[in-house]
Amino acid sequence: MNKKPLIVGNWKMNPSSLVDSKKLLRKISQKVSKIKKATVVVCPPSLFLLGLKGDYKGSKISFGLQNISSEKAGAYTGEVSANMLSKAGGKFVILGHSERRAMGETDDTISKKIKLALSENLTPVICIGEKVRDTQGEYLLFLKTQISETLSSVSKRDLSKIIIAYEPVWAIGEGSRAMTPRDVHETVLFLRKTLSDIYGKKEAMETKFLYGGSVDFSNARAIMIDGDVDGFLVGRASLDADTFVRIIESTV
Ligand code: 13P
Repeated sequence: MNKKPLIVGNWKMNPSSLVDSKKLLRKISQKVSKIKKATVVVCPPSLFLLGLKGDYKGSKISFGLQNISSEKAGAYTGEVSANMLSKAGGKFVILGHSERRAMGETDDTISKKIKLALSENLTPVICIGEKVRDTQGEYLLFLKTQISETLSSVSKRDLSKIIIAYEPVWAIGEGSRAMTPRDVHETVLFLRKTLSDIYGKKEAMETKFLYGGSVDFSNARAIMIDGDVDGFLVGRASLDADTFVRIIESTV
């Protein structure tokens, strides 16, 4: 494949200890070192980031977190700032994941977080996705509004510094099924058109899109080829080193 795939592992609230996180990362790292062409990012729970990074200096794996604060610094109990992530050596941050939106995160908050991430030279991986697909196409209007409002703080110049992860909520998690490559293609086309109306055609065409939602080694290659995406945001399958690496291998 021509493009350099980007595969981001979202570990969510797993594994349960730093020791287990290190074991998982060691296995991934050993296998991934042979794959030249892909960019591989791991987003562990924030508590484990420094411990993992320390062990994998110089490895091919980049690190990120699954969230940052919408505030720069100060009295915000329980929060981790963009600046802290950047100083810890993180390069990426997942923002606006549907599981965080379900906890009350709004487009407005996400938009503030994107701004802070960019100010620290982090690459935001911004999640977009409809909860349900209706037959009247209402979900298209939902997606259009969501992407426009979430990106309201992103300038034309900064569009190339962000990545959009299209994750239909109904396709995420145990027991769900990934979207068909054709449907991924159609939706990404629609999202690009929305970006084109806001930012211009060239900028929209150059924007990187990931797909997320029940990605596995059995469906990754087809979605990558026929879905018009640049890579994947992987949940469950990123917690199994063999499966995660097979997904990466299938994209190169
Ligand atoms: P699954 O791969 O477990 O469906 O999760 C997708 C996801 O939420 C990645 O951010």
